[in-house]
Order: sequence, then C-alpha cells, then structure tokens
Amino acid sequence: MKDRILSVLKNADGYVSGEDLSKNLGITRSAVWKHISQLKDEGYIINSVRNRGYKLENVFDMIDEKKLSFNAETLGMKIILLKSTDSTNNELKRLARINEESGTVVCAYSQTAGKGRFGRQWQSDNGGLYFSFILRADLPPSDIASITLSAGYAVCLAIREYTGLDAKIKWPNDIIIENRKVCGILTEIAAQSDRMDYLITGIGINVNNAAFPEEIRHKATSLLIETGKNIDKTEFFRTVLTYLDKVMTSFLVSISLDEMENFKKLCATLGKNVSVRRGEKTLTGKAVDITPLGELVIETEDKEKMNISSGEVTVQGIY
Ligand code: BTN
Repeated sequence: MKDRILSVLKNADGYVSGEDLSKNLGITRSAVWKHISQLKDEGYIINSVRNRGYKLENVFDMIDEKKLSFNAETLGMKIILLKSTDSTNNELKRLARINEESGTVVCAYSQTAGKGRFGRQWQSDNGGLYFSFILRADLPPSDIASITLSAGYAVCLAIREYTGLDAKIKWPNDIIIENRKVCGILTEIAAQSDRMDYLITGIGINVNNAAFPEEIRHKATSLLIETGKNIDKTEFFRTVLTYLDKVMTSFLVSISLDEMENFKKLCATLGKNVSVRRGEKTLTGKAVDITPLGELVIETEDKEKMNISSGEVTVQGIY
C-alpha cells in the first residue's frame, strides 16, 4: 500500500488530498497518514499542507532499493541504504570489523562528516550520491592506487553512458566535466604487513546538486548543472554499480591492454603540464604515460622520467 501511495504522489502534478488517496485506494485517512509517515521515515520529503494534502518533493533524488539489484559478481550483491551517517567509509569500516562480507555497498543520502583526500572535508548535502564498497581480496597494498583508478574509470564510463557528457579522469582520483570536478574517490585500507585485509573505496558524485559553496564554485560541477536536467538517482546509481562491478571483476583477474588504452584515452591529465605536491617539494613536468600499476609517468624539463604513485596533482588548464 505504501508503494501505491508513493506511485500516486510521484505521478501527481502538485498536491493530492488525503481524501482522494483514501477513496481511490480504499483505506482510511488515518491509514493514509500512517503510510505517509513511514515514507517520510525512509527519507522521502513529503510536504503536508492543511486543506491541500500531500506533495512529494524530491522525486528524482530518492533511491528505490528494489530497482538497484543486478547480476553482481564482485560488488553490489548487498546494498545498505541509509538516510544519514557520518561517512559511508566509516560506516563500512565499522561493519568490516564485525566481518561484513566482500562486495557490500553502503550508500547514504547525506553524510555529517564526509571525508575527502588529504584530510579534507567532503561536502555531503542531499543531492549528491555518497557510497562506499568493501573488497576483501588477497592483494598487496601497492594495488590500492590501481583499484582507485579502476573505480574512477568505471564511474567515468557510467557518467558518459548515462548522460552522454564528455566526462574525463583527472589522475588519480577525480572525474571532471569541462575541467570541473564532478566526482571524488577515497580508498582506505586495513592491511597486515604486505597483505591487504580489506579495502574500502568511497565515491562521492555530484548528481542533483544545484549549486556549490563560493570557495569551490569555480572548480565543481554536477550532472544537474551540466545536463540542465534532474537525474533519476536510482537509474544512475544502478548504471554506476553495474560498471563498477564489471571493472572490478576484470581488475581482480587482470586489466587487459584494451582497457588500459581506453583508460588513457579518457585521462585528461596525459599530455598536459602538471605539478605534483609531495610533502614539502613540488615536482613539475609533462604527464606522458600511465604504467600498468596505475602510476603517472612525468617527464621533467631535463627529460628525466619519473613514476608517481600518489600526490596532489595540479594540471595546467584544469585545477
Ligand atoms: C576527494 O576527492 O577528496 C575524495 C572524496 C570522496 C568522498 C566520498 S563520499 C562517500 C565516501 N564517504 C566519505 O566520507 N568519503 C567518500
């Protein structure tokens, strides 16, 4: 019954009165009210106005868990959807300590302490898509860079397919559209000496964010801003998960040369002058290649080649 009410509200053009809902669905007004309360508890924003009825506000932003399932091989077999949490990475870490299985995804409508790279904060209001997945794989910790890179590649492919936008990868962790950041990725691992116990990759995508705070406005964008349309988060999330599962499954086997070439084609950093901050020092040069391990190859002014596996990169003409 709750789903029927939801469907009426979704298809309505404006307010639907409680009386109409009760008549058309054959239930009492108090039963209508009870179902509406349950929907609100699930995160739906429903405005109730006296003498007018009910109106669903964030139709596109809601994720319909039932429509997310797909034939997952490596990740996405179990999806936990939360209204709010401190950070989906932290939530999964807590679950990992009580043996959460490999492949579980945790998604939240908002995060109160979203984490970015280099200890930064990740703005996590409603509108964005915030989720993390856990993988328990017998891999050396040095693989963390290529796993993050592969996750970015999958998100990039999903954005391109779903929106038709020219999304690109800014090595190592960002997805950009027209030189502005639309997605960031943060991987954290639990390892014992040379083996990984588990890794948690957290992904934040600006989906239906209409605007950004002043300080990041020049370098951030969202799918809503770029397409001019609200994005159906359920459909989009499903596309992202499907690509992530496919790319991660093939990663765990071994990345093919074809995939590597396609990755390079989508990498906006290659061929550009870059500077990489490493502690106190800044290295500058031209990004000329990416190794099979996912490192960025930089050619310095004196033609020396250096492989970089991490660091904060500024790309000329991007950010
Ligand atoms: C960055 O570009 O700095 C990385 C941002 C990663 C943000 C995501 S949102 C989901 C997951 N939970 C977090 O707290 N962070 C990651």
